[in-house]
Amino acid sequence: MSTHIAAQPGQIAPRILLPGDPLRARWIAETFLDDAECYSEVRGMLGFTGTFRGERVSVQGTGMGQPSASIYVNELIDEYGVQQLVRVGSCGALTDRLQVRDVVLAMAAATDSSMNTLRFQGYHYPATADFALLRAAADAAQAHGARHHVGTVFSSDSFYHSRPELTAKVVEYGVAAVEMETAEIYTLAAKARRQALTVCTVSDHIVTGEETSASEREQTFGDMVTIALEAMLA
Ligand code: ADE
Repeated sequence: MSTHIAAQPGQIAPRILLPGDPLRARWIAETFLDDAECYSEVRGMLGFTGTFRGERVSVQGTGMGQPSASIYVNELIDEYGVQQLVRVGSCGALTDRLQVRDVVLAMAAATDSSMNTLRFQGYHYPATADFALLRAAADAAQAHGARHHVGTVFSSDSFYHSRPELTAKVVEYGVAAVEMETAEIYTLAAKARRQALTVCTVSDHIVTGEETSASEREQTFGDMVTIALEAMLA
């Protein structure tokens, strides 16, 4: 096992979905995967492996924020050799081009996090998605008739912003939605030459104040998981 994941070598598939919420990991495993088995319960951060359309796929909760996601992605890459990592989660819309329940495919991620500031010592790193996964996810979203947008997200360390004017500044430069993990996942995947993508659905609208209900979130979460799984298998 690695420090935070209790799986034996080979128990985690090369393709993995990464929801922030560990209970979503269980829901995905039970709803989408055949023969799913739990491989880790360390700290309640559940992980499962099963099959989707005959191919092995895992799903691992990451917790919220880049420091937590970084722990799991580091171990999944270094100790378990995962090749494709697709974050599935929610985001807040920052522009009226988006509506609640829309799917956002994160082509790139800006960030206010110090993780890349420390890593690059003043250079600014463009955290970007894997193009093949991004293109396959856009194709899958189109095929399912899902309202979707390919664009830049803002991976913030804060859910509650004390300086909203700073978020407004990145919106001026085309950033479409805010979430909390993607910049670190893309950066780690790029260093290890692995493929990464974030597929998220708009759960709340920062501009209009609109929010989704729990049942709407479940439905849109399911659409997003289908898009993510089909992109990995394409
Ligand atoms: N995920 C969903 N909504 C969010 C928001 N408003 N800020 C950060 N992450 C989010």
